[in-house]
Amino acid sequence: MILKKPRLRSFAEAHNQRHITAGDRYLYAQPKITQSLVVIGCGTMGQEHMRVAAILGRMRVQGIFDTHQYSLDCAEDNYRQYSSEPLVRYDDLRSACMDPAADVLLICTPNYTHMDILQVAMQSGKPILLEKPMATDLADAAAIVELDADYKSFIQIGLQYRFKAQYVEAFHEALVRRSLGTLKTIAVSEHRPPFLDKVEQWNKYNRYTGGTLVEKCCHYFDLINRLAESTPVKVYASGGQAVNFIDFERGGEPADIDDHAFVVIDYANGVRANFSLNMFAHGFFEELVVGGDRGCLKARESVDFHRQTDPEVTLHMEFGETAAARKTQLSYPSIIEESGHQGATYYQHAALADRLDGVLTAIGGSVAATPREGFTAMLVASAAQASMASGDALLIDDFLCRCGMQPITL
Ligand SMILES: NC(=O)c1ccc[n+]([C@@H]2O[C@H](COP(=O)([O-])OP(=O)(O)OC[C@H]3O[C@@H](n4cnc5c(N)ncnc54)[C@H](O)[C@@H]3O)[C@@H](O)[C@H]2O)c1
Repeated sequence: MILKKPRLRSFAEAHNQRHITAGDRYLYAQPKITQSLVVIGCGTMGQEHMRVAAILGRMRVQGIFDTHQYSLDCAEDNYRQYSSEPLVRYDDLRSACMDPAADVLLICTPNYTHMDILQVAMQSGKPILLEKPMATDLADAAAIVELDADYKSFIQIGLQYRFKAQYVEAFHEALVRRSLGTLKTIAVSEHRPPFLDKVEQWNKYNRYTGGTLVEKCCHYFDLINRLAESTPVKVYASGGQAVNFIDFERGGEPADIDDHAFVVIDYANGVRANFSLNMFAHGFFEELVVGGDRGCLKARESVDFHRQTDPEVTLHMEFGETAAARKTQLSYPSIIEESGHQGATYYQHAALADRLDGVLTAIGGSVAATPREGFTAMLVASAAQASMASGDALLIDDFLCRCGMQPITL
């Protein structure tokens, strides 16, 4: 086990502690920067990674690449709000990937570009963080798993919801402590506002995203797969586009992105799961309810836009008469939560930095997602998209066969 000294960030940055010189800074010391990263695609998520890297302090941002000048300008302007370190702007993708001063590449471009960019990035032999979803279709996702198997370095998939405080705790209870007994049911729901505006509005179209269940909900299928600890065997989904972007069009092409869905998943070990989505809500509400033969777990996250209060994150554990119930309020330090996705991106970076430094650690019950896990999340998501389109329940083996792939066992 690696013992780390506490990081007293609020003391370290306090006015009345400025007189403590660099030589005397032990508890106030910044972590050592051991790696440098390049961000490819510096829109919303690329910039979140840049900010998180600065807060974590273990990786330097060496440079940025984007095909849109305006995104580069905004990313650099925003970076200058919190860092005076030099920042290289690359002229093309290849020079971004091959910069000898860069140790790790972060691919944060729209989903439909991931496969092409990844293939260039892999020529560098460097570790890569590839944003979720790894691709827009299952064939590309499977190809990425194969490419990864022969890759001399590693690929981490940006499924960082695993690092949200409530899911780290839920995994610990359900999978490490086994306090719920044998799991039987898993129910996840998300209620949120519509997809945000994006550069060239790629997220309004199925062909650029893979569909809503792939683009957004792969996060939740990843959580469900991890909890089920088994192979998905059957998927049924019903959903569509009811409210959002009904009147939206770009270049004469109307938006076709779905905004609500209900998905049911059966697993080989008998676990049953469901996922429900509403993207025309007026705040953020996310819920996970897990039922086992010994207890029940309820994890919730809500953000109230009306009252502009702090997000509320809770975990309830209930065991009837057999053990004490508990209700816990969860949070990471606010500087970490505010850096994006309730701190999940920060802890995903910590996991990446650990791996780059040759230390494999789990944060609570969470480890970073592999391409194989990214593929399995996409498998459920893609089968759900196909079920929504046909109206039929799909056996996963049949679906894989239709996609030209062999059955899988997890
Ligand atoms: N992990 C998460 O929770 C999370 C959250 C949001 C987005 N994402 C993912 O991150 C990726 C980017 O999403 P975003 O919200 O930042 O989108 P965005 O539109 O805000 O930014 C994308 C950027 O990529 C640039 N770009 C487009 N094609 C490019 C190319 N070929 N080469 C270089 N740059 C290119 C665009 O100019 C833009 O600046 C997507 O895959 C998305 O699904 C993940």
